[in-house]
Amino acid sequence: MGGKDTELILGIDIGGSGIKGAPVDLRKGEFATDRSRIDTPQKAKPDEVAEIVAQIAEEFVDEVGADSPVGVTVPAVVHHGVARSAANIDDSWIDTDVDKLFTKVLGRPVVVMNDADAAGEAEVHYGAGKDVAGVVLMTTLGTGIGSALFLDGALVPNTELGHLELDGKDAEDRAASSVREEKDLSWKEWAKRLQRFYRHVEDLFWPDLIIVGGGVSKHADEFLPLLDLRTQIVPAQLRNDAGIIGAAWHASR
Ligand code: BGC
Repeated sequence: MGGKDTELILGIDIGGSGIKGAPVDLRKGEFATDRSRIDTPQKAKPDEVAEIVAQIAEEFVDEVGADSPVGVTVPAVVHHGVARSAANIDDSWIDTDVDKLFTKVLGRPVVVMNDADAAGEAEVHYGAGKDVAGVVLMTTLGTGIGSALFLDGALVPNTELGHLELDGKDAEDRAASSVREEKDLSWKEWAKRLQRFYRHVEDLFWPDLIIVGGGVSKHADEFLPLLDLRTQIVPAQLRNDAGIIGAAWHASR
């Protein structure tokens, strides 16, 4: 695999406001050093973002070596290394072979995956879904709604449940955390929308556990108790670190 310590793998999470990376200690599922962050340019295109990702990778050569694989997340469907959607990013991402582009720009193997799938991998291996058998569903509530579905710890990639239709609208346009902020919804008002979303999802998938991530999960006490579901629903444990940790984990496989 290369690198100085095969247990340290670099993970990089491409978000709407920041591109963040850190070497991850895969034995512990934790960052081995402080993370680095660079603002995401407005309307960022793949080439521009690849340069920033390369810059972050450069910063951690001492920790992970110059040739170990790098795990990267994007907020899009990633089907066999190719981005296939662009709900909250520039349309130029669609049909870009992101594995190939990033591997070329970084000069080392890069494995790109959906951001929610990465966060889910981290929670399932190190966090709220660790050792949980059966069907586990991770959801991330942020600018959009992301999802990651697992059966006995194995990921079914690109489930995209944030785009389920609810009351004639995209679910994430009704119930994402960004909608709560934009519309200044109270926790109770927002919880009503989440209730519709999660009830629909549990009726379709019958999960054993639902994990709620995204920045707003730190306020889980404000809204999770307002939901009336048959499925156990818990806040994510790795919070904002989950994307980076899950991407590193995935790249190490
Ligand atoms: C995208 C997903 C992504 C989610 C969270 C959605 O709009 O379609 O691919 O996982 O936002 O970023």
